Amino acid sequence: MKFTGKTVVILGGNAGIGLAAARLFAGQGARLAITGRNAQTLAGAAGETGALGLQADMGDMAAQGAALEKIAAECGPIDVLFVNAGVGGFAPVPEVTEAFWDGIHDVNLKGAFFAIQSALPLMRDGGSIVVTGSIGSVAAVPGNVAYAAAKAGLRAVVRIVAKELLARRIRCNMVSPGPTDTEIFKRGASEAEIAGVREMMAGVVPIGRMGTSEEIAKAAVFLASDEASFVNGVDLYVDGGCIELGS
Ligand SMILES: NC(=O)c1ccc[n+]([C@@H]2O[C@H](COP(=O)([O-])OP(=O)(O)OC[C@H]3O[C@@H](n4cnc5c(N)ncnc54)[C@H](OP(=O)(O)O)[C@@H]3O)[C@@H](O)[C@H]2O)c1
Repeated sequence: MKFTGKTVVILGGNAGIGLAAARLFAGQGARLAITGRNAQTLAGAAGETGALGLQADMGDMAAQGAALEKIAAECGPIDVLFVNAGVGGFAPVPEVTEAFWDGIHDVNLKGAFFAIQSALPLMRDGGSIVVTGSIGSVAAVPGNVAYAAAKAGLRAVVRIVAKELLARRIRCNMVSPGPTDTEIFKRGASEAEIAGVREMMAGVVPIGRMGTSEEIAKAAVFLASDEASFVNGVDLYVDGGCIELGS
C-alpha cells in the first residue's frame, strides 16, 4: 500500500491510461481525486475507484485551477499530481488551421502547464508530478505536427519544472507512451478502421503489438512512487521499443 495517506490527483482520470492509473493508485491506498470532461464516465470511474470526481476542462485555465483548489480543500495537500489529459488529431502541415492547432495546444501544452502551475501552492514538499508525454514528440510521423509540437513543448516544461522544484524535493517526470490501445484513436472510427490500426501497429511496434493502458499506468505509478526517489526530470518511453529499437 505505497500510497496510503497520500492524496493523488489524476487530471484525465476517467478513461484509458488515466483510469488504469486510478485503479492502481486506489489499490495502493491513495486518497484519490480524478478529473475529466465526460460526466458519465467520470461518475463511473469515481464510483469504481472511490475517487472524488470533478468535471473540469483542462483547456479552461480558470476551471482547472478551481478544481485543483477544491480537491486540495477536500482531500488535503496534494502528494502526487498526474497530468494525463490529452487530445489527439492528425493533419498534414498544409491543412493545419489555427483552430486545429489551438484545440490541441490549449489542452496538451497550455492547459497542462497551467495545471501544474495552479497545483504547486497546493502540493506537499517531497511530492511527485508525472506528466503524460508521447513518443510522437521525438518521432517524425507525417500528419502529427500539432500534437508532436505540443508534447515536445511539454517535455521541456517537465525538465524546467523539475529543476525549479529541486528545493521543494518535488520530482517531475514524464511517461511517454507508444501506440496504446485506448479510446484516443477509436473515436469516430469504424470497427474495420480500428482493426486496421491495430494490425498496422503490430507491424510497426518492435514488440509486435500495441500497449495496454495498464502497461503505461504502471510506469506512471512507479514514477509517482518513492520507488523512483532517485528519478527526476526523465522522459520514460513505454513504447514496446519504438524509439530505441525501431528502424
Ligand atoms: N493512446 C495512445 O496511443 C497514446 C500515445 C501517446 C500518448 N498518449 C497520451 O496519453 C494520455 C491519455 O490518453 P489515452 O490514450 O488514455 O486517451 P483517452 O482514453 O482518450 O483518455 C484521455 C483522457 O484525457 C481526458 N481529457 C481529454 N481532454 C480533456 C480536457 N480538455 N479536459 C479534461 N480532461 C480531458 C479524457 O477525459 P474526457 O473523456 O472526459 O474528456 C480522458 O480521461 C494523453 O495525454 C495522450 O496524449 C496516448
